Amino acid sequence: MASRTPFLAGNWKMNQEQQLTMDFMHGLSVWLQDHDASSIDIALFPSFLSIPAAIATAHESVIVGAQTVASYDNGAYTGEVSAAMIADAGCGAVLVGHSERREYFGESEQDFVLKVEKALHAGLHVIYCVGETLDQRKAGSQQDVVRKQLDPVLKSIDAEQMKNVSIAYEPVWAIGTGETATPDQAQEMHAFIREWLANAIGEDSVANTRLLYGGSMKPANAKELLDQPDVDGGLIGGASLQVESFTDILSHALS
Ligand code: PGA
Repeated sequence: MASRTPFLAGNWKMNQEQQLTMDFMHGLSVWLQDHDASSIDIALFPSFLSIPAAIATAHESVIVGAQTVASYDNGAYTGEVSAAMIADAGCGAVLVGHSERREYFGESEQDFVLKVEKALHAGLHVIYCVGETLDQRKAGSQQDVVRKQLDPVLKSIDAEQMKNVSIAYEPVWAIGTGETATPDQAQEMHAFIREWLANAIGEDSVANTRLLYGGSMKPANAKELLDQPDVDGGLIGGASLQVESFTDILSHALS
């Protein structure tokens, strides 16, 4: 039986300027002084401009990451931030494939394959996000959709690289809507993803891969989601903006 370290990550999206970032990190450090959180991994993903403030003030056990990464190494790509720059700033992780990147910025699997490659090459841990829309779920095609999102990335990496990848299942209909997948829906999809990863990469190689649930995870529903055997953590948006609600969710992962 694999023992996977629970992984709780906060995606701040386009929120929290430097002062709010530092206040949050201070609050989290105070909480971490009173709670032994050595059994879980904690990551926060601020905006690029708040990353230095986050790194300067975060508790040593907290991973700070970037919400996206360029698919190029360097050069004339106005507005982009490379994996090397993100690693150089002190980040340990990056989000790739978030549905908001797919929907609002037209990014596709082709981009994500390159982004994952650049991030892994720079030594960053990747949280690769997948998930279906409401229409796709209503049509019963959610597993097909997720499989198509996973496959190009899985084909481009090997078992060794997979050690530095986590997958976040985030049903688009649950992101920022207050609607959450039921624990059964989350477990069903996570079990499917785990099986698919095992087929693609090898069962032993993915035994420790963390599968995070994302989509309106909050203190009130975190426990029942995290209790599912294939839910190894959460990618938390709205409820990660306040230190109280984020640490409430962390408490559920500790027990
Ligand atoms: P939410 O966002 O928790 O606000 O639904 C999750 C995410 O988009 O990562």
